[in-house]
Formats: sequence, structure tokens, C-alpha cells
Amino acid sequence: MLAEMNFNKILIIGAGQMGAGIAQVMAQNGLQVVLRDIKEEYVQKGINGIERNLDKSVAKGKLSVETKTAVLSRISGTVELNAAVCDVDLVLEAAVENINIKREIFQSLDRLCPGHTVFASNTSSLPITALAALTGRPDKFIGMHFFNPAPVMKLVEIINGLATSEATFAAIEALALALGKAPVRVADYPGFVGNRIMMLMINEAVFTLMEGVATAEDIDNVAKLGFSHPMGPLALADLIGNDTVLAIMEVLHAGYQDPKYRPCPLLKKMVQAGYLGRKTGKGFFDYPRQ
Ligand code: CAA
Repeated sequence: MLAEMNFNKILIIGAGQMGAGIAQVMAQNGLQVVLRDIKEEYVQKGINGIERNLDKSVAKGKLSVETKTAVLSRISGTVELNAAVCDVDLVLEAAVENINIKREIFQSLDRLCPGHTVFASNTSSLPITALAALTGRPDKFIGMHFFNPAPVMKLVEIINGLATSEATFAAIEALALALGKAPVRVADYPGFVGNRIMMLMINEAVFTLMEGVATAEDIDNVAKLGFSHPMGPLALADLIGNDTVLAIMEVLHAGYQDPKYRPCPLLKKMVQAGYLGRKTGKGFFDYPRQ
């Protein structure tokens, strides 16, 4: 089903929860992916997480052991970033939400990748137009924003920068559809649509906690029991990572210059304390190490 598409070889930059989740989705749909991070342990952690997810599906009888083995065989890990690793049709960047780190990555990729390689960023909020302008191929640069957990959530926001070509958009839209996702076309404004709505809710929930309006459990119960949200905003912040939530709030605040996007002081304090959520074992809730 994906054979007629041009994206036969894919490089994913960043083996964190988004990069690994996206690698899993791609490999489950028959694509060959290379998962790259700066340290061997990060790459291994990403691949182990994918294996754990697949094992759960096997245990539930939703996936055969053979399929699991086949999916894993389509994912390889590396810490290298050289011409051989970069000889791909598509790079999907899912590194941290830091413009300086992304600048370094895209400038290296632009040097190392062949001219036809499309660059897609999974950035949650940084401007696609500005990232594209760091490269010599802004027409082949696009936002492809998956939601967390990527193997589960249907939505993919596709964001054209000012110079992104319609051919690039069409190819990425077709890829999202082939991955079983529901693509939505979104203009290049801070936070796009998803995070502009979602992060305000999370930030307001943190203000509500800071002001002592209710406990963290009860704030989340309001969203779960009152709005039928699958999880409350504070548990969701812990899932996304409080550092990522803060980084997105700062991009929204800077981008719109509107005080409604000011990050809650308690959110900042949580990040300063290292209470980043599930990934550190502590956030608004505790996550005992397994
Ligand atoms: N990776 C892969 N699969 C996962 C997973 C993960 N991290 N977490 C859960 N799943 C799978 C489970 O294996 C299970 O699969 P099956 O149905 O095949 O059995 C399914 O998802 C449901 O999981 P659970 O039964 O364990 O738990 P649940 O029903 O409580 O669902 C949840 C968990 C999917 C995370 C659900 O709580 C949910 O949808 N939460 C809201 C998530 C959300 O809002 N995401 C958007 C975040 S914002 C964002 O991502 C934008 C950004 O840029 C920051």
C-alpha cells in the first residue's frame, strides 16, 4: 500500500516518546526506519519502549509474535549522522523543542541528505517557516505533527511553511493516510490548532492547582467525569512532559504577545525541580519505576 510512494527510506531524529512512537507506527505499516539519537542509551530506550508496546499487543492477542518480529526488524537504531545514514527519502525530526538544537540538526541534515530528501518536523509549536529557512530546501520542508501516544492518536497536523510546495504537502498527506492517521491541514501559526487549545487548558489547570481551588486528583476528575476526557489535564501534562508543556507555553506567549498564554509559575517551578512527569517518575502525580 505504501510501495508506490517515494518514502521508502526514512530517518527519524530523536528516539524519545514521540520519535519512537512514530517509528513504531511507520514500521507497523511496512516502512523501513532508522531511529537516530545522540546517545546509544537513548536509542536503546526508544527501541525497548517499542518492543514493550508490541509485547502488550501480543499479550492481548492483537498481534502475532511473527508480526512483532517483522515490525522490529524494520527499525534500526544509530547514533551516527553521516551521509550513509542520511541517504533517505524522508527525515522526520522529533528532537526536543529547542530552536538552537533543531537549527544544528537541520543544518547538518541539509548538508548530508540528497537533494530530493523531504524534511518533516514533528515540532509542537515552533514556526515551520523559520525552521525551513534554515535549510536550502524550504519547498521540501513541512510540519508533520503527531499526537502523544503516536501509535494511538489518529490526528496528524500538517503544516506548510510559507515556501512549502503543494507536492510536498500532498506526499506527506498521503503518507499520513497510509499510516492510518487523520491528517488536518493547519496554517503556520504558533501552537497550530491542537496545542493552542490544549496547552491553555493544561496551563489553566495548573493555575487552578496553584490557587488551591482543588486537589490535582479532583481537577483531573472534573475533566474526566465532567467532560469525558480520557485523562485529566494534569495527568496529560505528565504524559507530554512538563518541560515540553512549558516550552510550548513560552512559544505561544512569545508568538502572540498575549498575556493569556503566560506560563503558570507553578509549571515553571515543577520544571525547575525536575518534576517533568512520567519520564522522571514524578510530576503532578507519582509514577513508581517498574
Ligand atoms: N504507546 C503505544 N500504545 C499505547 C500507549 C503508548 N504510550 N499508551 C496506551 N497505548 C495503547 C494501549 O496499548 C491500548 O491499546 P489497545 O486498545 O490496542 O489495547 C490503548 O492505547 C488504550 O490504552 P490503555 O487501555 O492502557 O489506557 P487508556 O484507555 O487509559 O488510554 C491513552 C491511554 C490512550 C493515553 C488515553 O488516556 C488518552 O487518549 N489520553 C489522552 C491523550 C491525549 O490527549 N494526547 C494528546 C496530547 S497533546 C500532544 O500530543 C500534542 C503535543 O504536541 C504535546
